[in-house]
Amino acid sequence: MTPKEQVIDNIKVVCQCRNIKKGAFKKLIESGVTDLNEISRITGAGAGQCKGKRCGPRLEKMLEE
Ligand code: FES
Repeated sequence: MTPKEQVIDNIKVVCQCRNIKKGAFKKLIESGVTDLNEISRITGAGAGQCKGKRCGPRLEKMLEE
């Protein structure tokens, strides 16, 4: 990952209601957490206002990558 990508990951918000950045999810996925329900349980993403409608597809895409 380039330094530029790292900066973007630490700015880009994936879960807006909990203000969780892309980088935080990336770290979690890289540590071996690859189940969407587990990611949601750990971070609270999907349990906020959007109920996963907004962040869910973004997280699914990250897991595919
Ligand atoms: S954006 Fe936060 S729960 Fe979906």
